[in-house]
Amino acid sequence: MSCPVRPKPLKHKASLFFTFFIKRNSWLSGLFERSYVMKTGRVKLPGIEIVIASELPLVKKIMIDEVDKYPKNNLLHKLLEPLLGESIFTSNGCQWRKQRDLMNPAFAHARVGEVFGLMQQASDDMLMRFAKIEQGNTVRDMDAEMTFVTADIIFRTIMTTKLEPNAAKKITAAFTRFQHQSLKITMLRLFNIPLALFGFKERKRKQAAGEIRQTLESLIRPRYDAISKGDNKHWSDILSTLLVTIDPETKQRFSFKEIVDQVAMLFLAGHETSASALSWTFYLLAEYPEIQEKAYQEIEKIVGQNKINKEDIKKFTLTTAIFRESLRLYPPVGFMAREAKEEVTLRDKIVKKGKTVIVSPWLIHRNKEHWDKPHQFDPQRFLQQHSSPLKAKYLPFGMGQRVCVGASFAMQEAVLIIASFLQQYRVETVAGFQPKPVGRLTIRSENGIKVSITKRL
Ligand code: HEM
Repeated sequence: MSCPVRPKPLKHKASLFFTFFIKRNSWLSGLFERSYVMKTGRVKLPGIEIVIASELPLVKKIMIDEVDKYPKNNLLHKLLEPLLGESIFTSNGCQWRKQRDLMNPAFAHARVGEVFGLMQQASDDMLMRFAKIEQGNTVRDMDAEMTFVTADIIFRTIMTTKLEPNAAKKITAAFTRFQHQSLKITMLRLFNIPLALFGFKERKRKQAAGEIRQTLESLIRPRYDAISKGDNKHWSDILSTLLVTIDPETKQRFSFKEIVDQVAMLFLAGHETSASALSWTFYLLAEYPEIQEKAYQEIEKIVGQNKINKEDIKKFTLTTAIFRESLRLYPPVGFMAREAKEEVTLRDKIVKKGKTVIVSPWLIHRNKEHWDKPHQFDPQRFLQQHSSPLKAKYLPFGMGQRVCVGASFAMQEAVLIIASFLQQYRVETVAGFQPKPVGRLTIRSENGIKVSITKRL
């Protein structure tokens, strides 16, 4: 069986320097074949020193056993601060603990079930958009489609606000600009190049972040003011949970700025990752039509042409396995960056205080020590008995105390979208098109995910 796409590994070190410094390309293009088999690795370029840990006991040490020695990397905080402020995604220590405690109730399993209806409405609207597809013009970019539907789901579940196409365009365009400039700034920071030389890039980035925050602020402000006057009866979304949650220690609610920070973070963490995962899943379904057909048969057997309900989601075992396998091959968060709080030794590598340590789901999920035929697409891995591989070798949602707060939300959303789509439509490859995986904030395809869509029956 042929393997789905992955960037061609580099041959020698000189090409690594070229890839990063001259082309300022995605980090995925800077990997060697040996990166996929190593236990630990060190990247040393002018201005950068990073240790990568792929051996499972080390991963567990960094993420769980000695987690306090490896806080989140400050670079990520600086990078995302104009958009997310002081959000849970990048904070550390007591500030993070407080934010996590306030956030947990909004994403508890039962609460996620309650927003299923809102996800369903966004999924129905997605199907209506596909219903406009005409014969002779069946090619769609699933990357753009999935970005729209996942942003719509986030708006509806967090703020009960439907994402109108114009607002969606504005906000996703601003977000693309933010990502684009952020990537360039990261490269400059990594190589210790003074940002003052590139002030216009930073200005453009802040402007894009400001546009997104303004849109969010205008939506949140009336709700925040209503809550302050004791009125929260009309809402049953995630924002309403965040607005009324009280910190048990300080007896305080989130401030307005804190709420905007958290909502901006949920918008980013919640749609960018899910959009990436779903668009790669549709690429894989198009590449492997026999697996797509089996998933369709499973869906047809369980729900026929009826509407998919919350209870049906856990019955779609193959669809779930396909999505899990897609998260293995194309984990949206390709690497997690930490900072050594003190000098540590990881196997034979000494990491000085303040240096960066990376745990990379992309590398761990494709390491043949952990997975048989790691580059192949095989959802069966997640169907076999005793196959609960949810240890350090499978960590698309991270692990330990910083594990993704939205994991149940994302699983429910993804299975609903895939099953609702396959119930009515089929995806096929487009002649001559091949996606190009690139590692930016998440792992996306540089040229989109083009597929041809046809209606079933
Ligand atoms: C397929 C979809 C998703 C994937 C693959 C994913 C992956 C991850 C990963 C790997 C982390 C840990 C990062 C680290 O340790 O450095 C994380 C954290 C987080 N994710 Fe997700 N995520 C997804 C969807 C979501 C959704 C839908 C939400 C919310 C609506 C969300 C909210 C968060 C938050 C708030 C954190 C920070 C948790 C903390 O630091 O305490 N994610 N996610």
